[in-house]
Amino acid sequence: MWGSRMALRRLQKIAVAPLSIKEGVPSNVQREMSTLQRVYVTRQIPPEGLKILKESGQVQFELWGSDDVPVPRAELLKKVKGVDGLLCVLTEKIDAELLDSAGPNLKVLSTMSVGFDHLSLDELKKRGIRVGYTPEVLTDAVAELTVALLLTTSRRLIEATHEAKTGGWGTWRTLWLCGHELANSTVGILGLGRIGVAIAERLAPFKVKKFIYTDVAPRPELARAINAEYVSFDELAKQSDFLAVCCALTPETKEICNKELFSKMKNTSIFINTSRGGVVNQEDLYEALAAGQIAGAGLDVTVPEPLPTNHPLFTLKNCVILPHIASASYTTRNAMSALAANNLLLGLRGEPMIKELKL
Ligand code: DGY
Repeated sequence: MWGSRMALRRLQKIAVAPLSIKEGVPSNVQREMSTLQRVYVTRQIPPEGLKILKESGQVQFELWGSDDVPVPRAELLKKVKGVDGLLCVLTEKIDAELLDSAGPNLKVLSTMSVGFDHLSLDELKKRGIRVGYTPEVLTDAVAELTVALLLTTSRRLIEATHEAKTGGWGTWRTLWLCGHELANSTVGILGLGRIGVAIAERLAPFKVKKFIYTDVAPRPELARAINAEYVSFDELAKQSDFLAVCCALTPETKEICNKELFSKMKNTSIFINTSRGGVVNQEDLYEALAAGQIAGAGLDVTVPEPLPTNHPLFTLKNCVILPHIASASYTTRNAMSALAANNLLLGLRGEPMIKELKL
């Protein structure tokens, strides 16, 4: 069931070599269970990562055995006591309370995510805890989903399938379910990184006229690859026919997409967010969509997650909401799991991780 393509094969090759416990070696020199480093894994992660942990011979680990329900906070606080390493996913808040509960043994935290807004980096740094994360392996999957969400939103596919299924499909009509096309459009990227570039590369064959981006500073090397022009935040809002949010959630980007931004956008523009819900002021987005200030929005991320089913955004035809699935391909989730496991093992050995956050 789990896919195994290039990215995964690459990660398997760089899987850290297991510490071998050989047959025939006197038992007194073999690693005792009690000498293995203790690890807690906060989720039933995809099999590649679990396999790496199991076969490492380096750690004894306990895991929260469900993928459907996150580990309750009280249980997590109990389980982390005295562990050397922690492998988490983005639903776990790693803050002072949790780190205090874990205690001084905790040396390595590995998150199975590229985003790290769920981590209190200051607290981790203060305690000298090293942090691994999973960039790059998910770039293709996220870019692919962003394009799918953009087209679904701009060409009104959810509305269209609903109409077809529920009897709204009458005769062929000249303006019925018309949307906005990518050909000759200007696509704006808020926060140009690997994912923004990968999105632009996929959109270019749709005959986009121009790519523009904004960020804290120009990023000429990345921009060159997609022939994108650096513009101010205001210009990004004004010029973009499609605006894709790709920036990380930080105190600086929190709710950066608010009524000020939406009021400058064209009423034919499509807003897409596959980064973090926190970069958007959702009340302002609702107002902009309901008032027709912008044409549509496609969101893979919201605040909170899950978004309550009675949330006003769900009442809008011009808002497409997905349940945070941008990286959800079998290949990518397995690659993230493998990378998170390898980061953890390397960190616990005191070696450089494959992908480590510099704190
Ligand atoms: C991440 O990794 O941060 C994504 O949001 C989920 O894959």
